[in-house]
Amino acid sequence: GDLGPFRMIITGAPASGKGTQCVNIVKNHGLVHLSTGDMLRKAVKDKTPIGVEAEGYMTRGELVPDEVVCGVIGDRLAEDDCKQKGVLLDGFPRTKVQAEVLDGILKKNGMDIDVVVFLEVNEESLVERVCGRRIDPESGESYHIKFNPPPADIADKLIQRDDDTEEKVKVRLQGFNKNVAAISGFYEAVGLKVDGNKKPEEVEVAVEEAIRSKVGK
Ligand code: AP5
Repeated sequence: GDLGPFRMIITGAPASGKGTQCVNIVKNHGLVHLSTGDMLRKAVKDKTPIGVEAEGYMTRGELVPDEVVCGVIGDRLAEDDCKQKGVLLDGFPRTKVQAEVLDGILKKNGMDIDVVVFLEVNEESLVERVCGRRIDPESGESYHIKFNPPPADIADKLIQRDDDTEEKVKVRLQGFNKNVAAISGFYEAVGLKVDGNKKPEEVEVAVEEAIRSKVGK
């Protein structure tokens, strides 16, 4: 992208549209996309020690302990591609401890966070987005039965995440609500709120504006 490498965080409640927006951000700016949710789901699938540790928490919709999550992302951030292309952190940090650990890793590598986008979405919409979400297990792409219907030829192979139920999204929301103030406080200087209730294309425009108002300034 024309802005060069930079580091950003996209944060927001479960199903607020982080993953959906990350696709555009990566396309527009060439950042390395690091989603702790995706990394942890892969670890669970591969039955790595981190995956074995994380699985129960994820199935219940609870936050995975800080030391486990920091373990999955810490080494990755110091790799060359992240330094050269910049990084898009999706779903991390989610607690104050994680923000402090991240700060330490970045500082050690001479980096900083340039912009933090907070996607804000009403709670009723979050539940509807969670319950209607369907995932392509091959590409990892997210669809929604109502808001972003999948092409007919792949509809049959789509799956639902096992934490995408109304009951579990309540637990996930509690975990989010408990930590949201600590995270926004930590990133006050570089943080911007974006209305995530609008259509994905409109949210994309607002996210892009937020990026341009902070990066390189
Ligand atoms: P994670 O995978 O990060 O889940 P999440 O935060 O709950 O977020 P989602 O991936 O569910 O949603 P999203 O915001 O990406 O929304 P999407 O774009 O798909 O984490 C899962 C679990 O891992 C956690 O519960 C925890 O256990 C663990 N974990 C991960 N990171 C951790 C950390 N740092 N610390 C501790 N534990 C951690 O959109 C959702 C749906 O809505 C889709 O169907 C989409 O098509 C649709 N949609 C998107 N945008 C719009 C729009 N504008 N209008 C209408 N529909 C839309």
